[in-house]
Amino acid sequence: MNIAIIGSGNVGGALAKKWIKAGHTVIIGARLPLSDKNITLATQIGEDRFTSIPHAVEQCEVILIAAPAPACVDVVKSLGDTSGKIIIDAMNIVMGRGPQGYNTTAEAILTNTQSKTVVKCFNTTGFNNMENTRYGEQSLDLFMAGDNKDAKALVRQLAIDAGFAECYDVGGNDKFALMEQFAFFWINLAMMQGQGREMGFKLLKR
Ligand SMILES: NC(=O)c1ccc[n+]([C@@H]2O[C@H](COP(=O)([O-])OP(=O)(O)OC[C@H]3O[C@@H](n4cnc5c(N)ncnc54)[C@H](OP(=O)(O)O)[C@@H]3O)[C@@H](O)[C@H]2O)c1
Repeated sequence: MNIAIIGSGNVGGALAKKWIKAGHTVIIGARLPLSDKNITLATQIGEDRFTSIPHAVEQCEVILIAAPAPACVDVVKSLGDTSGKIIIDAMNIVMGRGPQGYNTTAEAILTNTQSKTVVKCFNTTGFNNMENTRYGEQSLDLFMAGDNKDAKALVRQLAIDAGFAECYDVGGNDKFALMEQFAFFWINLAMMQGQGREMGFKLLKR
């Protein structure tokens, strides 16, 4: 699959490396000149994977956006034509810092681009858990929301390709806000309640 990554910092960089390893074609849409973080990533995955944001989007059917939430609208407007493409939203509005006038970044994406298909995923756990999904003998689970079932099937596979054990469907676009609250639940436990970043969620069943 051809995947454009827009926002290639902690989250985008971790997923780029995992998806390349899984055999996907990953193209990074980055601002020029490349930031120090992107220069480091380029030494790891190859400079030839870096191009402008619209050129990356043009070549790919799937777009991961992992930029800071306050930059969400600017980033989305810079994508070029996204008609028919699947957008994965990994962003979170944390403590009110996000796109003005929107409850979630996914809503801001849908309002400011042509694509009608947003799946919110990869936002509910730390980037360290994307770099390494393993806890002893087990791998973490992941969660996603969005209206389009086919797109969710594809994103579930991308979560598994990144090393997660399962990616559970939390519901439609009406669950975007719940997904951001769930992300804040992890952030709260990790940062405010002192559990640290090396923990994550797994669904147990019987
Ligand atoms: N950190 C986590 O553990 C974690 C986990 C889940 C979800 N998230 C969410 O994922 C998003 C990214 O977090 P992160 O920690 O990966 O951030 P980060 O390391 O700071 O990376 C942000 C990336 O976005 C790019 N960017 C910033 N403003 C942009 C703009 N206006 N146009 C285009 N690209 C822009 C940056 O490019 P430059 O390098 O050129 O500045 C950089 O590649 C946030 O919304 C965060 O809430 C984070």
